[in-house]
Amino acid sequence: MDVGIRVAEPGDLGVLTACMGQRPFFTDRLARQARGGGVLLVAALADLVVGDVYLSCEPPGEPELGRHLPGVPSLVHLEVTPDLRRRGIGTRLVQRAEAEAMRRGAGRVLLGVEGANRGARRLYERLGYVEWEHGIVPTCWMVERGGRHVVHRTAVHVLVKDLSLSGR
Ligand SMILES: CC(C)(COP(=O)(O)OP(=O)(O)OC[C@H]1O[C@@H](n2cnc3c(N)ncnc32)[C@H](O)[C@@H]1OP(=O)(O)O)[C@@H](O)C(=O)NCCC(=O)NCCS
Repeated sequence: MDVGIRVAEPGDLGVLTACMGQRPFFTDRLARQARGGGVLLVAALADLVVGDVYLSCEPPGEPELGRHLPGVPSLVHLEVTPDLRRRGIGTRLVQRAEAEAMRRGAGRVLLGVEGANRGARRLYERLGYVEWEHGIVPTCWMVERGGRHVVHRTAVHVLVKDLSLSGR
């Protein structure tokens, strides 16, 4: 199976939303990418998109992150389509995002993971992410439920990786 990881292009919006949903999210992130605010990476299989992750280089919305980790880029919205999970695609997306962060001069990268998401947390810890010492952080994002976009309010554990460990 020939899955390639590449930077999304503006013309990918249709296939991205057909495969992954979340049209408002991808519209917003493609616009931010065009302004230099981050990098949207996709896992592409033939004409399909089977996964994505966004590297944000803009100040985060959560004040705690800006206070304790100013200037540290964040990984958001890592997702692989359910039928293609457990084949290493998620790991490759994270590693490529780390490489993009390093190319932009970052020494660290951060992300948030919900307490119940043990599978994702295992993946991150295997790659060298470590939870910070400042507690969990309230946050929210939009999700699609029953064809509607609603706010998902939650709290996340913040994990940080020293990118000098990249390649582990
Ligand atoms: C989290 C997520 C992105 C992981 O994607 P993935 O492509 O399955 O990730 P990987 O395949 O790299 O790793 C997942 C597991 O598959 C295993 N794996 C990787 N390649 C494998 C292979 N060829 N054969 C069998 N297992 C494999 C990994 O070792 C890992 O095992 P673990 O259960 O011990 O952690 C995916 O589960 C997902 O989209 N979840 C919903 C959204 C989500 O929770 N995102 C994270 C938000 S913080």
